[in-house]
Amino acid sequence: MKNFQFYRYILQYKGKLLFLLIINLISLIFTLSLPYVTKFIIDKAYKNKNIKLFVVSVVIGIIIFLVSTILNFIGKNISTLFKKQVIFDITTNLFRHLQQLPLSFYDQHSSGVFVQRLNNDVRRLSEFLVEIPVGLVVNLIGLVIIFVILFYLDLRIALVCLVAAPLNFIYPYFSGYKLKMFLEKEMTKVQNISKLLVDVFVQMRLVKAFNNEEIEIERFEKNFAERIHLEKKIGKISNFFDLSSSFISKVISSILTLYCGYLVMKKRLSLGNFSAIVLYINHAVAKVKGIADIVKNISENSVLQTRIRNIFDIEPPIYKDLNYYGIKQAKIEFKDVVFGYNSSKLIFNGISFVIEPLSKIALIGPSGCGKSTILSLILRLYEIQKGSILIDGVDIRDIGVGSLREQIGIALQQPLLRDETIAFNILYGKKDATKEEMIWASKIACAYDFIMELKDCFDTFVGERGVRLSEGQKQRIALARAIIKNPKILILDEAISSVDLETEEKIIENIKNNLLGSTVIIVSHRLSVIKKMDLIYFLESPKKIEVGTHQKLLLENQKYKNFLSSKNKV
Ligand SMILES: Nc1ncnc2c1ncn2[C@@H]1O[C@H](COP(=O)(O)OP(=O)(O)OP(=O)(O)O)[C@@H](O)[C@H]1O
Ligand SMILES: [Mg+2]
Repeated sequence: MKNFQFYRYILQYKGKLLFLLIINLISLIFTLSLPYVTKFIIDKAYKNKNIKLFVVSVVIGIIIFLVSTILNFIGKNISTLFKKQVIFDITTNLFRHLQQLPLSFYDQHSSGVFVQRLNNDVRRLSEFLVEIPVGLVVNLIGLVIIFVILFYLDLRIALVCLVAAPLNFIYPYFSGYKLKMFLEKEMTKVQNISKLLVDVFVQMRLVKAFNNEEIEIERFEKNFAERIHLEKKIGKISNFFDLSSSFISKVISSILTLYCGYLVMKKRLSLGNFSAIVLYINHAVAKVKGIADIVKNISENSVLQTRIRNIFDIEPPIYKDLNYYGIKQAKIEFKDVVFGYNSSKLIFNGISFVIEPLSKIALIGPSGCGKSTILSLILRLYEIQKGSILIDGVDIRDIGVGSLREQIGIALQQPLLRDETIAFNILYGKKDATKEEMIWASKIACAYDFIMELKDCFDTFVGERGVRLSEGQKQRIALARAIIKNPKILILDEAISSVDLETEEKIIENIKNNLLGSTVIIVSHRLSVIKKMDLIYFLESPKKIEVGTHQKLLLENQKYKNFLSSKNKV
């Protein structure tokens, strides 16, 4: 995406844009006609002592003034509404785009970055997108009109103004690059502070538990001081910008005013012309300042565009547009799968195994061996580099992520609850589920009884990340969320590690008795769970997975035996 392509967001509202320009231009013409009316009042009505003409021209002047004020007001209103529309369009588009980016993208970026881009950067960018073109057109046309009138009124003065006007842009031109550089640094700093803030507030429990408030305050102060330092530099450049963009024109306009005064005294310039010229020069100074401000905004705008464009430029994965595929038996097959989160370090180097339909299996292996990775690959959260993963004999790349993920239920060790009610969290697994289904799922997950004991039952708010619940309670809600859609494949990744043994036993029994049509994969280090499963899949190495019943593996596989005994589980 090129920077200028952001302008398509305003060009799609051609009518509004044109209307805004027309209103501004009419207002400009009215404003610029006022000095001429003044000249007329002085030279024609006042000089000839023509009261009637005087009154008529003053009334015309007032009307012009009122109309230009009203048009200005309307223009500002349209501009505000227009900007809000553009903010809405870009923000929602960016959010949509972010939703489509793969998980690997989020593995590399902190959430504070996106909060900053969505809440601040897009807002400022959208305002500039409207202000810059409209401001440039109106100010430039205004300057042209002023020069034409000045040429008509007095050639020499017009020529002096014409030569002086570009001088105002010398400093802005040369400091634009510096300003841009500092703005880039400042925005990166602001983003890092957002990252830090999100991180520290989300982890407040950790900060308190380790008595690290002072360290966090120091870290924040250090970062914030750096930001303020950059802001001071930007402020300085910006103030010089403002000074230089009006100083020269103000000096020249003062000299010209004196010179015109001299011409009036020498009777070489009428009083009316004098007033009009002074007023037009003031308008010209304002327009020059307006253009210099826009030059300044263009610097900031370009930094913002690059930041937002960098996200838009990341291509979301292109999934085939496939029809809904209903998983029938849920037979899962890994065929020579090669995968690494990055190509330099492979996690699997040609692994193959089959999970038979409707079986209830345990996936085990040492920490970091790749159990969670296998589960992510079944959900197609990452793309494999070689080989294939099949469900019912169909490559998951031919199933379509939508229908694939819709038929898989997953619960993780970290329950990842939303800061909403229990009902919201459970229904997150199936938006159109009935209350009966919600109760059914929470009963299987052994969550129903404790939910009913809460003051607001299913309507109880769980707090951020579920802080108002115990770990075991959170896990059971997350489990109910996975179960509610009665998935064809149910995946539990250490998902009941925090519940007591008795509850755990009950949950596994419930799953076995109620999810008869599902293939169930449970990752667990607990022997009590492992023993209850039909088959054990023991991930021995990046290439090899051993499959068998617990008893068979204990007898035949020394590595399995060592693994369990090292964890005191036999
Ligand atoms: N998002 C990621 N980006 C890069 N590397 C990752 C990512 N997730 C996991 N890894 C790496 O992949 C390897 C396998 O991790 P995985 O989480 O699958 O292990 P695991 O068997 O589930 O371990 P545990 O029992 O501790 O949960 C590890 O070496 C880990 O460092
Ligand atoms: Mg894991």
